[in-house]
Parts: sequence; structure tokens; C-alpha cells
Amino acid sequence: MESRLIREEAVKLAYSRRLLEEARKIIPAGASSTIRVATLNPIFISRAKGSRIWDADGNEYIDYLLAYGALINGHCHPAIVEAIKRQAETLTMSGTPHELEIEVAKKIQSVVPNAERVLFATTGTEATMEAIRIARAVTGKTKIVKFEGAYHGHHDYVLWSVESPIPGLEIAPFRIPYYPGIPEAVGKTVIIAPWNDAHTLRKIVRRHRNSIAAIITEPIMANAGVIMPKPGYLKELKEIAEEVDALLIFDEVLTGFRIAAGGAQEYFGVKPHLATFAKALGGGVPIAAVTGLKDILDYVGPGRVGFGGTYNAHPISLAAASVNLDLLLENDGAAFRRLHEVGGKLVRGLQEIIADTRVKAIVQGLGPIFQVFFTELEAITNYRDSFTINTAAYREWYRQLFARGIHIHSQWGERIVISTAHSLEDVEQTLTAAEEAFRAVKRILSFSTIDSL
Ligand SMILES: Cc1ncc(COP(=O)(O)O)c(C=O)c1O
Repeated sequence: MESRLIREEAVKLAYSRRLLEEARKIIPAGASSTIRVATLNPIFISRAKGSRIWDADGNEYIDYLLAYGALINGHCHPAIVEAIKRQAETLTMSGTPHELEIEVAKKIQSVVPNAERVLFATTGTEATMEAIRIARAVTGKTKIVKFEGAYHGHHDYVLWSVESPIPGLEIAPFRIPYYPGIPEAVGKTVIIAPWNDAHTLRKIVRRHRNSIAAIITEPIMANAGVIMPKPGYLKELKEIAEEVDALLIFDEVLTGFRIAAGGAQEYFGVKPHLATFAKALGGGVPIAAVTGLKDILDYVGPGRVGFGGTYNAHPISLAAASVNLDLLLENDGAAFRRLHEVGGKLVRGLQEIIADTRVKAIVQGLGPIFQVFFTELEAITNYRDSFTINTAAYREWYRQLFARGIHIHSQWGERIVISTAHSLEDVEQTLTAAEEAFRAVKRILSFSTIDSL
């Protein structure tokens, strides 16, 4: 069965595979962001509309990758496309301030609780890098606390213990560079802690109380599948940070403008000192933001802490983001109710199928962002729990879904996201495919976490 699918994929993806070979001759690994080719079937997408994408071979899929969460209003939303066209014909860039910068900042401020001040960058990576530098400048301290398994972008400050290659290790997390090339000197500024464990964190933070500038966290850990914070945990994080005069940074690059208009800080009612946004803020264009309390962000300015980038607050990105935010915020945030309703149906449907098929799996997260974990545990609460996941089962599930026109990433760490363009019909179609996929996984793999038939 499995080899039949693999043979079918080779036929179905013939042109994409040829393109990948050609790409690899000039672009190392075949793409300029490695994760794009770190999936079982890297496909070249030629066009897209709403919830659908078409690959270079002409195959159609319902897309749940959505550019890693960016496309909150789906692919090529006509109002966003129109805004991009209009702006491109008016002013592409000037390297000067622009009126749209104020407009979009005000829209963010109107909904994000900690956004007394807003600064724009181009990517989530830059946003977390700038936020950390600001925290260091404001506190006069150097170290940051980062959680094991968390991803905050592609700069050296945070590329530590993103993955731990040592399953079963029972001792406290320790610091491992994600790749070669990341200086140990930078690593000395990073303290790794386990997530969702306020007790251990408090002990670690007290030990380093005079040197910690910031605790950085995703409010929902959404780069190791989707892991929800324990009740009260985020509030405790803020208390722990404030106890040692450190700042709490919420990295809302994935949760922002996805789970609620005001992001996780609104959803969970915890206001961090600084927060970072990207992805769903732009709805498909390169834009990011750092938001924060005015006493902190007003440290930024000429002669104080710098904040910079040629492409920051790019007019075309701002024009698109402005319309993207209008779509999300109109009718009192109806878009978010829809994301939870449609995504919630998908989550509940998957849970019912899992119960019916008696596959050892769980679904975690919220309607707009969630993940299926093939595990015997009742919940994954931190990165180390994820060592229990049957990754082979996930890859097979991916493969079965892919064969049925459902597009997700084959790595379990990459979550499933939906957009406002996803319909209840999409959900129905996906659930039909998912049920067949779960049954096929159960048939094909004889691994310990799945009941044998
Ligand atoms: C939580 C989080 N922070 C930061 C980043 C980095 O954002 P970007 O890829 O835009 O640099 C990502 C990207 O996936 C992310 O998921």
C-alpha cells in the first residue's frame, strides 16, 4: 500500500520533482527556506485562490499550510490583491516615513492590549531580535530565558534548543545550538527552561536574577505541534519576570491576528511587556511588528536604542496589512468567530474520527491553529512529551492526506492552520479524507501506539 502511494506520488508530481532537481543545482537544498523542502513531497505551487492551491503538475489541494500561518484571509484575497496593485502604482518605497505606517499602527493599537507603541519590521525573525535587544537595553541586563522546543526565528540569539536530539533525557533541559555556525559566545546569553512548568522556571530565574533581561515565549507553543499553556501559566510567567525586573516577551508571530483580534494576550488576558507579530498581520506580505508598553518602547529613537531596516514599514506591505486587518476586524471581529467555528468543526470532527477508529492520537489547540499528535499520552504539555510521538504514523497520515488532496507539512512540528476562506464544505471534504487516512495508517503501520485491528 505504502509503496503504491509512493509510486503514485512519483507520477503525480513528475514536474515538481524535475523542478526540484533543477533548483538543487543552483539553490542549496532547493529552496531559500529549508523547511520548504524538509517535507516528504516538496511541491512547486503555481497558483492559489482562497483555501485552494494548484501545483506545477496541475494537482489541486485544500491548503492547511497557508504559508506557515501567514494567509489568514486565504490565498489572493481580492481586496488585498487590489490594495497591493494600487499601492504599487502610487509609491513602492521612499525610505521616509509614510502615512500608512500611522494608519496600520493605529489599527493594531485598537485591538492589541499591550500596543501602547508599535514599530514595524519585515519578518518575525527581525521582530524577536529587535524585541530582545530593546529588553536588554531597557533592563541593562544581558541574558534571556528561552524554552526548550521553542522557535522564535532565524537569528543567533534564539536558535538554541529548538530541538533536543536526546530523547529520554530526564534531567533539566540544557542548551544546544540548532545548527553549526551559531557562536557559543551568544549561547552564554541564553538560559533554557522547560515550558509549562512555573515551579522549575521560578527556581531557574531566581538563580540568575541579576542577569535576566527577558523571558521570551510563544503564548501557545506552536512550533512543536500545538501545545496549550496550563491554566494560569502565562500569568505566572509575568509574575516571575517582574520579580527579577525582567521583561516578558510574547512571540505572537503565529498566534497574533489568528486566535483573537488582540492575539493571545487578549485570549488569555495576560499583557506582556513586549510582543512580536508577523504572519497573519500581513495576510501574505512581508511585515512584522513589535508592540509594547510606552515606557519600554519609547527607549527607541535616535541616540538611544536603534531600530532599523531598509524595508521596514514597506508601503506595499502596509497597504496590504491595512486591508487585511480591516477584513479581520470588521463586524466586531466576525472573522475570528468564523475561524473558531470552522476550525472548531474540523478539530471536533478529527477527535470523533480518532475515537471511532480507536487510533492512539489526540488533537490539541484551537480551531484556527491545532495539531494531531500520534501519542498514547492524554496531552502533550511540553517539548519533552513530544518524544512519545509516533512520527512514522504522522508521516504516513500526511501521505494519505496528500494523496486525497489535503496539503499539510509532513513534519508533526508544523501545525495545521485555517483561514477565513476555508468553508464548511472544505471541512467536510477534509474530514472524509482524514477518516480514510486514519484507517489507512492503522492498517499499514503495525506500531505499538496503534491498536491492532
Ligand atoms: C513563533 C515564531 N516566531 C518567529 C518566527 C520567525 O518569523 P519569520 O519566519 O517571519 O522570520 C516564526 C516563524 O515561523 C515563528 O513561528
